[in-house]
Amino acid sequence: MKRTMIFILSLFALCQIGFTAPFVERVKRNDSPIIGVLAQELFNSSNSYIAASYVKYLESGGARVVPILINKSEEEYTQLFKSINGVLFPGGGVSIETSGYAKAARIFYKLALEANTQGDYFPVWGTCLGFELLTYLTSGENLLSHTNTSGVALPLVFTKETREGRLFKGFPEDLMTSLTSEPITENSHQWSLTVESFNNNKDLNKFYRVLSTNTDGKVDFVSTVEGYNYPVYATQWHPEKNAFEWTRPYVPHSPAAIKTTFYMADFFVNEAKKSFHAFASKEEEVKSLIYNYNPEYTGAKSAFEQIYVF
Ligand SMILES: *[C@@H]1O[C@H](CO)[C@@H](O)[C@H](O)[C@H]1NC(C)=O
Ligand SMILES: *[C@@H]1O[C@H](CO)[C@@H](O)[C@H](O)[C@H]1NC(C)=O
Ligand SMILES: *[C@@H]1O[C@H](CO)[C@@H](O)[C@H](O)[C@H]1NC(C)=O
Repeated sequence: MKRTMIFILSLFALCQIGFTAPFVERVKRNDSPIIGVLAQELFNSSNSYIAASYVKYLESGGARVVPILINKSEEEYTQLFKSINGVLFPGGGVSIETSGYAKAARIFYKLALEANTQGDYFPVWGTCLGFELLTYLTSGENLLSHTNTSGVALPLVFTKETREGRLFKGFPEDLMTSLTSEPITENSHQWSLTVESFNNNKDLNKFYRVLSTNTDGKVDFVSTVEGYNYPVYATQWHPEKNAFEWTRPYVPHSPAAIKTTFYMADFFVNEAKKSFHAFASKEEEVKSLIYNYNPEYTGAKSAFEQIYVF
């Protein structure tokens, strides 16, 4: 009788393990992520803008977008931070120290680090100017150097840490090969973080794993990073342009270039799916979404096919 009982109990225990293990592995996930994209001052105007390619990029990965307008109060940004599942600092041409873009980004960066430290997952992405801004926010110094990289597509130079990193882990092997052999990462920047400046700065070294570098022929610069302990990612190059921008001849559109746009978006949106921030109400959410604005066609006179003006 006793033996039978023990047998039944242990059978039960085994079944528990057998049946629950796959469910335990299936972690909670937010399949309706909303990502904030930061606006910046529009050149020669009192308005701000977001290039529509950033919005399309995130939407192609399965996210919705909320614009983060500049010149708002810290309270408003804090409220928005609690409502969204990630933030993207786009490329552009404003100051990384004094612009409205820089001021808003500083607040979101600080909130993101605090949240992540407390186990509240919140991913941050910087592209081009956003990359430069993140190096400034992390190190507290402007460590950028001039490079000859304004309008050139390059293959990435992977580092010995690329494979240990998270960002490229889900990329197909053939795409990894294309990324190192074909010019499919588009660079539009005059400033870069040189490998030397990175290596000489303790704060940057401690915080970021370098996933790729590039050269302008003279100087090696850092082109892709991710935080070792924080979901902070940045590319000096433009993953969103390949699929969505057509105004410049150096934006690559090869099959591998388009796949690169998609796999980068896929990665970041999946990071945002680990965040469970939510708007206080459905009405708040609806009011905040980028769908409330219409992009303008600007391809005939600017580097962007479409922009949102605020
Ligand atoms: C900037 O605005 C001023 C005044 O509105 C105008 O004269 C100038 O041509 C503009 N510059 C550019 C580059 O658009
Ligand atoms: C933001 O604030 C600055 C400084 O007060 C002002 O010059 C600029 O026009 C404002 N821009 C927007 C888009 O609100
Ligand atoms: C800058 O790079 C381009 C190629 O991207 C090259 O044609 C040009 O000569 C370079 N300019 C200088 C000043 O090195």
